[in-house]
Amino acid sequence: MSRKVTKAIFPVAGLGTRFLPATKSVPKEIMTLVDRPLVQYAIDEARAAGITEFIFVTSRGKSALEDYFDHNLVLEQELKAKGKDDLLEVLENTNMESGAIAYIRQHKALGLGHAVWCARRLIGDEPFAVMLPDDVIAADKPCLQQMVEAYEETGGNMVAAMEVAPERTSSYGILDAADSSGKVIRARGMVEKPKADEAPSNMAVIGRYILGPSVLYNLNQMKKGSGGEIQLTDAIAEDIGNGVPVFGYRFDGQRFDCGSKAGFLQATVAFALARNDLRDDLSAYLNDIVATGRAAQ
Ligand code: UTP
Repeated sequence: MSRKVTKAIFPVAGLGTRFLPATKSVPKEIMTLVDRPLVQYAIDEARAAGITEFIFVTSRGKSALEDYFDHNLVLEQELKAKGKDDLLEVLENTNMESGAIAYIRQHKALGLGHAVWCARRLIGDEPFAVMLPDDVIAADKPCLQQMVEAYEETGGNMVAAMEVAPERTSSYGILDAADSSGKVIRARGMVEKPKADEAPSNMAVIGRYILGPSVLYNLNQMKKGSGGEIQLTDAIAEDIGNGVPVFGYRFDGQRFDCGSKAGFLQATVAFALARNDLRDDLSAYLNDIVATGRAAQ
């Protein structure tokens, strides 16, 4: 099987309950870090890694996400007429080639594994990436690109991995790693959301994966796992028992959990401070509220 990865699945069919009431009408993936929706960060990262086919697994209420990828010709003409070339370029960079995006519905939020399985007919017999737009990773070389390069050497399945505090293992898939000292970590097993005292390590899997089609076959069994959901972690772990290796990839970069309010706010501040047009004002404001303890009421 070729190790070239050109397709990525973006499972975005979750309910996004941690951001209610906003997510009552706004898909979480459209929420913006400064001025770019979360999904744009994921698309840019995918493109940098050589992805040319983008498969979104969506659900009811996500039409704003689909609209986001349409060309906005009226706006483009308006910006052109007004000579706003910089904004025009920003807009054009978000345009997707016709036919490059596919949308599949997950009719019921049965879990991340189920969402990935819903895209099976568009994958075929080739490796594919899975990207969760909630996880935004600031890195010099985009995370998926780092992984694609490592995957060319390893094959098998690869998951992005990072160390978490022991009390946080119950929020992640956790690797059972023989040796976690290098960049590429061979896993002996994987467990979804183990309690701290049951976790095999503190190497957590975060939202970037490169998987082989065997994971989709494993998902055919529709086994329910942690939380009664069909878990992607379980289907990947099953491959280890079948002799297909699974590697954790310790990426370079800073990951923000934008599926949580605290992570989203941290990412907003970090990305704003990285911008020349915002850094001075924002850091003056932050210094002021830290010094005086005063913030908005
Ligand atoms: P989360 O665990 O963050 O769930 O899903 P969520 O529904 O998005 O958010 P909360 O916890 O209710 O606030 C992780 C990723 O898996 C997708 C989500 O859209 C998100 O990208 N997912 C999850 C699905 O596509 N389908 C599912 O059935 C479950």
